[in-house]
Amino acid sequence: MYLLIKGGTVVSASGAQPADVLVEGERIAGLFAPEHTPAVEGAQVIDATAKYVIPGAVDVHTHMELPFGGTFASDTFESGTRAAAFGGTTTIIDFAVQRTGERVPDGLAAWHAKADGNCHVDYGFHMIMGGVDDESLKAMDSLVESEGVTSFKLFMAYPGVFYSDDGQILRAMQKARENGSVIMMHAENGIAIDVLIGQALSRGETEPIHHGLTRPAELEAEATRRAISLAEVAGDTPLYIVHLSASQALEAVAAARDTGRNVFAETCPQYLYLTLEDQLGAPGFEGAKWVCSTPLRSKAEPHRRDLWRGLRTNDLAVVSTDHCPFCFKEQKELGLGDFSKIPNGIGGVEHRVDLLYQGVVDGKLSLARWVETIATTPARMFGLYPRKGVLAPGSDADIVVYDPNARTTIGVATHHMNMDHSAYEGYQIAGKVDTVVSRGTVLVSGGEFHGRKGHGRYLRRGLSTYLL
Ligand code: URP
Ligand code: ZN
Ligand code: ZN
Ligand code: ZN
Repeated sequence: MYLLIKGGTVVSASGAQPADVLVEGERIAGLFAPEHTPAVEGAQVIDATAKYVIPGAVDVHTHMELPFGGTFASDTFESGTRAAAFGGTTTIIDFAVQRTGERVPDGLAAWHAKADGNCHVDYGFHMIMGGVDDESLKAMDSLVESEGVTSFKLFMAYPGVFYSDDGQILRAMQKARENGSVIMMHAENGIAIDVLIGQALSRGETEPIHHGLTRPAELEAEATRRAISLAEVAGDTPLYIVHLSASQALEAVAAARDTGRNVFAETCPQYLYLTLEDQLGAPGFEGAKWVCSTPLRSKAEPHRRDLWRGLRTNDLAVVSTDHCPFCFKEQKELGLGDFSKIPNGIGGVEHRVDLLYQGVVDGKLSLARWVETIATTPARMFGLYPRKGVLAPGSDADIVVYDPNARTTIGVATHHMNMDHSAYEGYQIAGKVDTVVSRGTVLVSGGEFHGRKGHGRYLRRGLSTYLL
């Protein structure tokens, strides 16, 4: 069973060149300069003339079916991974959840029950630690050794839900230092934020924009700096700041990196494009669509400019989506009259490849950097490389053919996520995902879906290969 992707320009994290990609079964057999491509009898041929051929994108931050604020994120593993495939993402890493009071292995088993047999693309798990104690610390070791879960998310926000105090964080970091795993941090000072929320509500400030105003950038920066300090005390535990949105937090990450520390960060498309004023501050209750944490930041400050620069300097190494969709009707509406009850999250798993490609069109990112931030570094950071994130002999044949000359418009009428609105309604995209291959199987071509649920396999991840 051979597949030949012919005539395109292969883009990797190190550059672009004309090459044909030969797939045998589920793996890449070879890349050939066009004049040296062997004739392969019976191969299925995909014509990639005038198109880019890139590794399937890797989204290391999704929340399918996440329980949050009295409801569940609206994409199942089936609908969410189908939408991911449409958008050129062929691997996700979702967050299994141990809620405070639950056992870690039970949380992981519950996530397997949701995902196994239902995914269209390959998937792995991080573990959200909703509590750190002797038992959960032990469980970290067994997840790393036996379950292929090699990264753990802790929360400095959401007291009473996922929150860990500094002592718990330090203990988990010490454990991660021992077993080689990565600590992912939701860095916002949730204790101070809860005070600001209470004060805003008592003043009658209930609209969605107050979600952002009660989560100031300085409280993201403070938590980021504290996490960096705690990781240093733990012995330079690898620390990965999730959904970084504020210039001041980026500055803290950059300063740590400049001293050679194992500190990394991701941002998400919503922080590169959307703002507190234009989206979260939309009239009436409309802004609820854009309630997420960390929040969208003010356009009066240079956050977006700084995030794009961070992507160029590698102080931001990864772009993920933090895909956490909720419908407006009945879900976001839980917070009518009280912004603090709006479920937190934006859906976008389908749009990351396109939205970041606009950075290439605008001259903010190189082609190679586009591929590196959406595919190669995510795979290296979380122990999936070189199986994922690169087109190389022996790698999984996860391949996207991207047409830079086609145009699309994002919107609820055409997206495939289970949402009744789009965070990017009307956004015009220069470029289009043309063909998507997952482990040698064509999932998307000609705008049609050819996959089947259960094709996606669980990925037992190794340790990060991105550490300094
Ligand atoms: O608003 C967000 N980001 N929802 C998902 C949960 C999280 O903190 O990542
Ligand atoms: Zn978070
Ligand atoms: Zn630097
Ligand atoms: Zn998240």
